Amino acid sequence: MRFVNSYSDKIKKYVIENNLTYTIDTMGCQMNENDSNKYSGILESMGFKRENNEKKSNLILFNTCCVRENAENTLFGRLGYLKNRRLKEENVFLVVVGCMTQQKHILEKIKISYPFVDIVLGTSAMSIFPQKLYDAILNHKKSIEYIDIGNEIEEEVPIIYEDKYKASVSIIYGCNNFCSYCIVPYVRGRERSRRPEDILKDIKTLAKNGYKEIMLLGQNVNSYGNDFKDIDYNFSDLLQDVEKIEGIEIIRFMSPHPKDFKDDVIEVIKNSKKIARQIHLPLQSGSTNILKQMNRKYSKEQYLEIVEKLKKADPSISFSTDIIVGFPNETEEEFLETLDVVKKVQFDQIYMFIYSKRKGTRAATIEDKVTAEEKVERLERLKKLYEKMLPDLNKKLIGNKYKVLVEGKSKNNENFFTGRTSQNKVVIFKAEKEDIGKIKDVKITSEHLWYLKGEIV
Ligand code: 5AD
Ligand code: SF4
Repeated sequence: MRFVNSYSDKIKKYVIENNLTYTIDTMGCQMNENDSNKYSGILESMGFKRENNEKKSNLILFNTCCVRENAENTLFGRLGYLKNRRLKEENVFLVVVGCMTQQKHILEKIKISYPFVDIVLGTSAMSIFPQKLYDAILNHKKSIEYIDIGNEIEEEVPIIYEDKYKASVSIIYGCNNFCSYCIVPYVRGRERSRRPEDILKDIKTLAKNGYKEIMLLGQNVNSYGNDFKDIDYNFSDLLQDVEKIEGIEIIRFMSPHPKDFKDDVIEVIKNSKKIARQIHLPLQSGSTNILKQMNRKYSKEQYLEIVEKLKKADPSISFSTDIIVGFPNETEEEFLETLDVVKKVQFDQIYMFIYSKRKGTRAATIEDKVTAEEKVERLERLKKLYEKMLPDLNKKLIGNKYKVLVEGKSKNNENFFTGRTSQNKVVIFKAEKEDIGKIKDVKITSEHLWYLKGEIV
């Protein structure tokens, strides 16, 4: 479906005359970040100016996440805080979009306790956002209702990236995996791959506009293309076609699922000059028994085998991962299996989470005997192990030379510029303003746990 904003002219006059501004508050993953860029695109096409300050903005849009429980509390806290402004000031509008809105109990709670919200929109309803906005702003008509996740893909939605040199591009929406702890398949629907020609067109336009780095996004990127009925085209085909696009120098993707990480993709990575030497490979748990209960469909050994194959394809590849500690009834031995995988793989980056019970998922029905204290303690032990490993990993990089996209001035250190190595390590170095957006050879000179220092050579 091609996105058409037939409301933009009707509303623009009012928005511009009243100088209306917006702020987007994004929770959760990169898919949400990408959706927020689209909401920015739609709002700016209707005349809104970005403010990035809730207190001063006319329209505040919350793009929500429901993967873990704490995000819910954050949303309701923020809405409560904005209630007075919404009710007392003219031209203040509140919008809630994203994963939480696809849960009926959340919608009920908004209706009952936060009825001053103007618009609630589901996860695949951008095409009706302009009309809802028009109704809210010009007709004072609210819209807090459940919207089914359709099968349609909305193409040509205007998009505004905050960054000038790197951009993320969604390639597949939804998820079919139903990992037993995860709410995503319920709130994002079934897998829907974008047509390759649409994706490639977007990336070619980005390249023409000076973008150098592309992140291909999906809940499970390596099931890309499984739903095509008329063409035989999968993730490795897409990677090879993106590689051919002139101007794009760095290709990243997130997230692949270990169960679908097939040899053809490893071969493409091996032969690629552009695919980053960093693979994000969500582990979740190192225990085969827990993985089985998580419905992950791979064992500890199979996970390690993929890592080995990738390391063999290119020893410079580094790994990042997601780990959940404290899955219901996880034993000490099972947790130690996770630590064992962490030691074996030597992850460069670990996103660590304590298991959070999500209503409606299979794991939520399991009676859990592990205490909250034990879970926190396991998280601490995982953190400690990681922080102990990291300096040694970093030290191995000293003296090496990497191609680094100069992203801009370092936020924490005025005298330095910042970028990332192919392995996604943050590196700061002296450079000139003119170097921003260019790829430079940087030699690593020292390590500082969360970043490296280097010099352009
Ligand atoms: N509890 C804790 N972490 C979760 N994740 C997904 N669902 C849950 C949950 N119920 C984590 C997984 C996933 C990441 C995006 O969030 O590690 O890879
Ligand atoms: Fe959730 Fe599993 Fe799908 Fe990832 S692959 S989004 S963890 S169900």
